[in-house]
Amino acid sequence: MARRIGVGLVGYSFMGRAHSAAWRNVVAAFDPAVVPELTVVCGRDPAGVAAAASRLGWSESTTDWRRVVERDDVGIVDVCTPGAAHAEIAIAALRAGKHVLCEKPLARSLAEAEEMAGEAARAHDRFGTHAMVGFNYRRIPAVELARRLVASGHIGELRHVRACYLQDWLVDPDAPLSWRLVRSEAGSGALGDIASHAIDLLQHLSGSVVTAVSALTTTFVSTRPVSSGVAGLASRPSRELGASRGPVSVDDAALCLVRLGGAAVGTVEASRFATGHKNALRVELNGSRASIAFDLERLNELEVYEVGTDPTAGWRRILVTEPEHPYLAGWWPPGHVLGWEHSFTHEVADLLAAIGATGSAEAHAVHPDFADGLAVQRVLDAIERSALSQSWVETGLGGAGAHLGTSTDNEEP
Ligand SMILES: NC(=O)c1ccc[n+]([C@@H]2O[C@H](COP(=O)([O-])OP(=O)(O)OC[C@H]3O[C@@H](n4cnc5c(N)ncnc54)[C@H](O)[C@@H]3O)[C@@H](O)[C@H]2O)c1
Repeated sequence: MARRIGVGLVGYSFMGRAHSAAWRNVVAAFDPAVVPELTVVCGRDPAGVAAAASRLGWSESTTDWRRVVERDDVGIVDVCTPGAAHAEIAIAALRAGKHVLCEKPLARSLAEAEEMAGEAARAHDRFGTHAMVGFNYRRIPAVELARRLVASGHIGELRHVRACYLQDWLVDPDAPLSWRLVRSEAGSGALGDIASHAIDLLQHLSGSVVTAVSALTTTFVSTRPVSSGVAGLASRPSRELGASRGPVSVDDAALCLVRLGGAAVGTVEASRFATGHKNALRVELNGSRASIAFDLERLNELEVYEVGTDPTAGWRRILVTEPEHPYLAGWWPPGHVLGWEHSFTHEVADLLAAIGATGSAEAHAVHPDFADGLAVQRVLDAIERSALSQSWVETGLGGAGAHLGTSTDNEEP
């Protein structure tokens, strides 16, 4: 009989709902060796969290995350709160010997991320626990196929990487002041919220790290209507809230030139003011033999261009839905496309696989771990320092030829 492990989820709103679906669906899709039980969900409002427990499939609810962390029947703590609570909850869970899945960006600051990564390393040595960061876009099948193609040398020597993440939910100057616009809650704005995804993908797909950056950040709307209880991207303009406005203390957009290990160079752009773009993440890599491009709005596809003399050569569109493509064996017949939410199911499937293999000959790390989250945070920190000093800033990562580890480095495309 499969081993069972209790999950405690903290935060039941946007990400809490997405993660709940993943924990519910992972068994049917991937038949993991360790089966998750939706033991307890935590939120701040007693009635709200009780209703969420019943709707999202959790056995119990609580309003104190400490009760989640200290329970013997909870083996995984899943942190889906705003950034301000990530470090305290994740560190307490790691000290209690729990596996942790923490949403991105790992922390509000470099110092906080260093503390979390240090704690994760100590917990791994002491308890053998895994600490994963929720950069879920790594686990879209087309993205993983792209990574394998790059790792196998398919695109040749990497020259350019460009990563762009655009949203427009803040275009209205009267959209309310949600936690994502407050530095003490979020750490930074478009930078930590969405450039973090772009930077993680850029490093993950290239197999390299950002060594230096030259950046600018800007804030277009400096005050917004104060409101309570609004949740992030669900925010709507709220003129009925009255005249009281509070300061926006984070960036609205960030643009950046980057140098990677080796000779490659790239760009990162993130904005929540890109009118017309709802959740547009695009990453492109240009190599000496081929180029690869991924677009979240067409997430079942990968675009590939191979250098050649054939007069019919051109960009090809690969529909990444074959059973031999990454993660597809768990799903539907070819062409029966997947969605955004499947990336979270893949995320928890990989975490459960790593937990199941602990102590066996197949024991392996699961990425992105807190060290990978820290690597992204070093780039975010360097971008803020570069924007402030208006100069190139070193990230402190790697050096020429520096590479990040992945748990699937040797897999063939
Ligand atoms: N991976 C992704 O694509 C993605 C997308 C959106 C958000 N995120 C990240 O997920 C996290 C949550 O974002 P969201 O959009 O779900 O936020 P949200 O505002 O929709 O939900 C936050 C939840 O956390 C709860 N919460 C806050 N403080 C708490 C505390 N001290 N104890 C218990 N519960 C607490 C709130 O009650 C709420 O349920 C953030 O770190 C964000 O950056 C990731």
